[in-house]
Amino acid sequence: MDKRVLVIPGDGIGAEVMPHVLRVLRALQLPLAFEEADMGGVAIDRHGTPLPADTLAAARDSDAVLLGAVGGPKWDDLPMTERPEKGLLGMREGLDLFANLRPATLFASLAGASSLKAELVADLDILIVRELTGGIYFGEPRGVEVGNGGRRGFNTYVYEEREIARIARVAFELAQKRGGRLCSVDKANVLEVTQLWREVVTEVHADYADVELSHLYVDNAAMQLVRAPKQFDVVVTGNMFGDILSDVAAMLTGSLGMLPSASLNADGQGMFEPVHGSAPDIAGQNVANPLATILSAAMMLRYSLEEAPAAERLEGAVQTVLASGLRTADILPAGADDSSLRRVGTDEMADAVIAALDLAETS
Ligand code: IPM
Ligand code: MG
Repeated sequence: MDKRVLVIPGDGIGAEVMPHVLRVLRALQLPLAFEEADMGGVAIDRHGTPLPADTLAAARDSDAVLLGAVGGPKWDDLPMTERPEKGLLGMREGLDLFANLRPATLFASLAGASSLKAELVADLDILIVRELTGGIYFGEPRGVEVGNGGRRGFNTYVYEEREIARIARVAFELAQKRGGRLCSVDKANVLEVTQLWREVVTEVHADYADVELSHLYVDNAAMQLVRAPKQFDVVVTGNMFGDILSDVAAMLTGSLGMLPSASLNADGQGMFEPVHGSAPDIAGQNVANPLATILSAAMMLRYSLEEAPAAERLEGAVQTVLASGLRTADILPAGADDSSLRRVGTDEMADAVIAALDLAETS
């Protein structure tokens, strides 16, 4: 039976890029059935809610969800509980997608686009494992209330032992398959909840003696990421620190437009999305880079659809296209007059990936 993929184009460049990514996926000729649903701003406009019940139900019934991006200025003035981002958070919670994998990999042909010196990022290959369904993002109580002393805003930073243990296991297992090193990031010098984090990660380590475990406070981790990023292999951290550190790590690679992500639950079901957002400022101009969503589709093939060879084929095609000099605007160094590089739009970039797939097949 065909595996079921729920496609959620979403807003901005998410919706713009998705049809091209589907062309690429179809070119692989895999036994996949695609279905589409609304989430984010477009769902607010069409259904009055960022996460319609039908969308969540369809996601539950699918083997994987491929997401474009959600959000945009049009919906920025809505209250927190009605904003497009709430759709994303609701999907993470609804499918229990607790393990967020955010690779920050430098493509050799893009070394010049990093904000750090080329030698600091050459061959960079970091994997940030962010806990995605707990911590301060979901802790209760939360809110803003009016008291005698004026308004008071509050959120709750809470982790249960089992939540820490399960994300730690995912991270240790990934470290085993990669460089064998795991760095856990916390703020154990100030926050009790992260003292517990450090304790539990250390306890779980007993089952993964072959992995080298280290701990860093989050401020130091942020500094080390921009000072000497290659010291890291796998990084595991809570929801909020992971949000911040993954943006830092992404920038080291030179382009947010290149980075995929996976959010997985305990059954291997997952939602796959580019790290970049909906970029409303450039939407609709055929300039968005489709590679992050294409690479997210590759992660989907690998982690949720048991199609690892197809994932490799797709990643190989992306490498080929980059090596051939094609660049969307975001990965073209400003003022570059390098004649081996050619600026292309969203559609041409996707066409080139499809063409490179054909080559890969016949070679
Ligand atoms: C991310 C984003 C989201 C987050 C927002 C859009 C809710 O920044 O996926 O990193 O904070 O998790
Ligand atoms: Mg973020």
